[in-house]
Amino acid sequence: MNPMVSQLVKTFHGGSKCCLPVVLWSLAAWVLLLQAYTSLLRLPSHVPEPYSQWKNASHMFYHDAAEQTAEELDAEMIENLDDNAQEKVEKVEKWNKLEKSEDLEETFGAVAPVEPATTAKALEESKELLAQRRLAFLFPGKTSVIDPSKVNGSEYGYFYPGRTWLDSVGKPIQAHGGGVMYVAETQTFYWYGENKNGATIHPKQGTARVDVLGISCYSSKDLWTWNYKGLALKAERRDKSSDLYFLNVVERPKVIYNDNTKQYIMWMHIDNSNYSKASVGVAVSPNPEGPFEYVGSKRPHGCDSRDMTIFKDDDGQAYLIYSSSVNTELHIGPLTEDYMDIVERGSKKALVKQRREAPAVFKHRGMYYMVTSGCTSWAPNGALVHVAESMLGQWVTLGDPCVGGEEGFGSITFFSQGTFVLPLPGLENTFIFMADRWRPTDLRDSRYVWLPLTMDGPADTASDDEFEFPPWLRVSIHWYERWKLPEGWDNLHPVLTSL
Ligand code: DGJ
Repeated sequence: MNPMVSQLVKTFHGGSKCCLPVVLWSLAAWVLLLQAYTSLLRLPSHVPEPYSQWKNASHMFYHDAAEQTAEELDAEMIENLDDNAQEKVEKVEKWNKLEKSEDLEETFGAVAPVEPATTAKALEESKELLAQRRLAFLFPGKTSVIDPSKVNGSEYGYFYPGRTWLDSVGKPIQAHGGGVMYVAETQTFYWYGENKNGATIHPKQGTARVDVLGISCYSSKDLWTWNYKGLALKAERRDKSSDLYFLNVVERPKVIYNDNTKQYIMWMHIDNSNYSKASVGVAVSPNPEGPFEYVGSKRPHGCDSRDMTIFKDDDGQAYLIYSSSVNTELHIGPLTEDYMDIVERGSKKALVKQRREAPAVFKHRGMYYMVTSGCTSWAPNGALVHVAESMLGQWVTLGDPCVGGEEGFGSITFFSQGTFVLPLPGLENTFIFMADRWRPTDLRDSRYVWLPLTMDGPADTASDDEFEFPPWLRVSIHWYERWKLPEGWDNLHPVLTSL
């Protein structure tokens, strides 16, 4: 028998010798206990479906829900949704400033922040809209292109960083990760870069890639109208043992002219598809437009070499600069007199443990400057500028040169990665910073971000170990949605128009 019932039986049948007050107190106690028990049974065993999402999110809401009417619950849910709506709007606004976004996630596979579940369809739509607008800003569609083949007078010469840039016959320029060489005798610029005009492959493991087609060459007199000269160096379709075999990696080509041998020498990053070959390759041609003859590849100084560039100094000495030790440091070493090989001894390490890649070197008033990126595959990151008194000297990091644009945009190099700094003949303090806005979902549609790089006056960063006025200048890469070089390039600065 239930002990509670048995106690009552005993009590009422005089099985016990207790007095009346004890009996009454016991009865009262049992009544209270019974009430508590039945009220417990009235609690819902689960939270009604529309509100179940709040179960874990808000203990308070769950507790209250049990006591409220359906109308009260609706009102509270809407209130709670509004709270979250505010949170969401703030998040969207933040993402709009390029901190994190779904299209970035989609593009780069980054992990998006975990969001509280919500049924606010309208908000989802507005977020979607913002993401689309951001995407349209970063990768404008075909209606707004730079098209020198259909030039209208007032638009002539305007650079629009990020827009599809068409060549002189209206085809998108394919010269990624490239560099520009100026031939003074003919006053012609040559732009060499990776031709990525193929389907992007997304392997299960490793980075997105495009089969190697070769290195494009474009020529121009004005740096704005580019004539396609064909593939200066072609990929190899049959010979699997070739570095140029189409399933390998050929990146970041740069070309310099050797005044003694009268040859144009191309250096490039040579790799296999999983980037473990980590070598540099050389090709040579008597003509700037090629065809270049491929010479071979090697690991410079016996070290792994990935992103790289070359730099030809005023005295004719040329250097190879490459990311090494699994991208943790840069190595800088002189090239042989004919620029066809590396001097095996005498290389220097720079930016050790700083994890920098995409080096782009230039010289100004006897000082050497280098812009680098961080190492985040195709995703953008912050640029840094470094300076040294000689190529093989000590490199000092000055900081992020990017100036302007919306908050957060400059700190990821205006959503791009540097590839080359082009000195402008006739403009002493002005260079063009050339960068790639990679689009790993469709690499052939990666865009070019060309911006003015200026030497803006004394730098405010001194090295730790020297107490003296720093001999270098502040380097600034300015964001402009639209800009152009002045007529004749005879002024000190380009005409800049910020929209
Ligand atoms: C970053 C490099 O700068 C690019 O040239 C390319 O190698 C990508 N990594 C591949 O992920």
